[in-house]
This record gives sequence, structure tokens and C-alpha cells, in this order.
Amino acid sequence: MLRFLSAIVFAGLLLSGCATQGAQEDGAANAMHAYLAGMPKAELHLHLEGTLSPETTVRITRRNGLDYFTTVEEVKQSLASRPPGLMGFLAHHFKSQEVMQTRQDFYDATYKLAETLADNNIVYVDVFFDPQAHTTRGVSFADMFEGIDAGRVDAEAAFGVTINLIMCIQRERSVESALEMLDQAAPFRSRIIGLGMDSGPEYGNPPVKFRDVYSRAREEGYFLTGHHDVDVRDSIKHIWQSLDVIGMDRIDHGLNASDDDELTKELARRGICLTGSPVMRSTDPAPQDVDRIMALDSAGVCVSLNSDDPEEFESGYLTNMLILFQGASGYSRADMTRLMLNAFNSIWGTTTDKNAYIAALKSYAAAHDVVWGEVMSADDSDKAAE
Ligand code: ADE
Ligand code: ZN
Repeated sequence: MLRFLSAIVFAGLLLSGCATQGAQEDGAANAMHAYLAGMPKAELHLHLEGTLSPETTVRITRRNGLDYFTTVEEVKQSLASRPPGLMGFLAHHFKSQEVMQTRQDFYDATYKLAETLADNNIVYVDVFFDPQAHTTRGVSFADMFEGIDAGRVDAEAAFGVTINLIMCIQRERSVESALEMLDQAAPFRSRIIGLGMDSGPEYGNPPVKFRDVYSRAREEGYFLTGHHDVDVRDSIKHIWQSLDVIGMDRIDHGLNASDDDELTKELARRGICLTGSPVMRSTDPAPQDVDRIMALDSAGVCVSLNSDDPEEFESGYLTNMLILFQGASGYSRADMTRLMLNAFNSIWGTTTDKNAYIAALKSYAAAHDVVWGEVMSADDSDKAAE
């Protein structure tokens, strides 16, 4: 009987020990999530057209009297059944953005996005938009742009988030079409910070195809960036073109660079930043490309985390994506803060603005007992010690 009782007591102790350990782990995870949620953030790779929620899509559809995407279920079904890969993703992406037709639609999409960004404690964002996807179906550049820009101005005032706009070339379209887009954008030049390149397929539409477009954009004062989607044929060659022929200021995605030592070292040496995006779909076991991002980070490359098309991936908006990435990588608070520091360092703003954002990040980290020396990459720590 005594042996039986002590076995019960022992089992009870074991269980309470396990429960205590489980509670401690939950507590640590919750504390990490709270740290990531509260952190002041920048996001540099976010497509306006990928931020239409099913609810907003349906609202706009009904307003415009369209006969598709008339219910939230229909939008969700189209998302869930899209084929894997970039082209499957783009098929849904293009269909859903076609609901936007009027200036008011573009205004609403932008304003609503900014509200969600503010909920994620995002203080700075670069938003991509695809003019050709809209102008080629009859929307005027002016209507589209004035809608987006008015939404931006009102949202900045309402939510305190700074928004810059990057217009993208759709790489499958012609050079002439991209040059025409630059012409159409000329009256609005001062309100568009950069020129990017997206859509696909990427293979067959390399960065050099748009050499003349980028060179004219550079002369007109745009910053330059472009998509190098992951695991695309010739990705590494495309990244070299973007560095050496186009002279891009940033590289979107570009994570295949981690497969090539020479390219990795060159990105680190030149301080060219990558906008990584470890998105996750319901069918994925984990966020994508975590290992590549960690490899680039440990090689001293400036890589940031971004949500890309948050309404079209399960990873959603930035706070959730940071939580998913941290869970998969096991990164510490200091590591996660370094990735956010990379984002602030990649901003195309004035040094004063950048320093103010970084100071806010630094004081947030300090208030949460994060040692700044552990935040900086090995490379920066060396420089600081010199
Ligand atoms: N358009 C929206 N998201 C994109 C991505 N990740 N790659 C290419 N084009 C896109
Ligand atoms: Zn993208």
C-alpha cells in the first residue's frame, strides 16, 4: 500500500513538474510573441493588390455590379484551390485585383491596408502597385494613382504610419509597355519613390530585358528594385544582372543568393539588402525559406522579413509572419530585432528619418532587456569595435 501511495505521489510530482515546464514554455512563447507584436516595424515588400481581404473584395465587387467574387466563400475557394507555384498564385492574384475599377476602390484598398498595418505596429511601409494590371483593362493611371495616394495621405494622418509607393513593371509585358507606364507616371513622379518589377514568369523575362526602362527611371530619380522569386531558373544569374547591369538599390526576395558563396559575399560587401518573405500556405508544413534567410543573415547579408501578399497567404500580416519565422528558426529576441533593424536600414528615406526609426527600435529593445551588441551582425559588431 505504501509503495502504491508513493507511486501516486511520484506520478503527481512528475505531472506537476511537466505542467510547470509546459507553463514555463508557454510563458516564454507568449513573452516572445508580445515582444514581436509590440516591436516598431518596417515593411518593404507588400503588394497593394495582395492586401484585398475577401470581405473588401466582395464589398467592391457588389459596389461595381460584377458577377464574380460576390461572396466571401467564393473568394476563399478561389484562394484555396489555386495551383502551387508562382503562376498559380498569380492567376488568383490578377483575378481578384480586377474588382478594383474606380478611384474610390483604390482609395479604400489603401486606407484599409494602412489600418491593418497600424494594428501590426508598422511605422514605415513601402507599398508596391502594378499600374499595367489596371491601365490595360481601361482604368486611367490618374484615377488609380490619385485613389491610392489620397488613401495614403488620409491613412498617414489617421494612423501615423509613413507610406511610400513603388510602382512595378510587370515583367511578362513588353519594354514599350513599361516605357509607356513611365510616361503616364511622369506627372506623379514626386509621389512615387521607386520602380520595381514583379509578376511572371521570371524565366524568359530577366532583369536585363528592362535595362533601358530602369536606366531612364534612374535618371528621373526613382530608386530601383525588382523581384527575384525563389527557386526560379537562373535566379542567381538574374541577381547578378540586377546588381551589375541595372544597379538596383534593393533586391526583392533573392534568397537563392544563399546557394552561391560569391554572390552572398558580394551582397554583404556592397550592403545591398534583400526583402525576404517566408510566406506560408495552409498546405505548407512551415514558413518557406527559413534556412536560407538564416544562412544569409549569418553571412552578414542585410535581409529583412516581409509579408508580400498577406491576404493571399496563411502567414498573413507582419506580426504573424515574425511569430512563425521565430518559431521555425528558434531566433532570439536580439536576432529578430536585427532582422527588423535590417528593414529600417533598407529604407530609402533621409538619414534623419532612418536614425529616428532605429532609435525607437533601440529603445524598445532596451526596455525589453535586449542587448544591442547582440542585435548587430558580427560584421557590424566588428565595425563598432574598431
Ligand atoms: N506579385 C505579387 N506578389 C508577387 C511575387 N511574390 N512575385 C511576383 N509577382 C508578385
Ligand atoms: Zn512580391
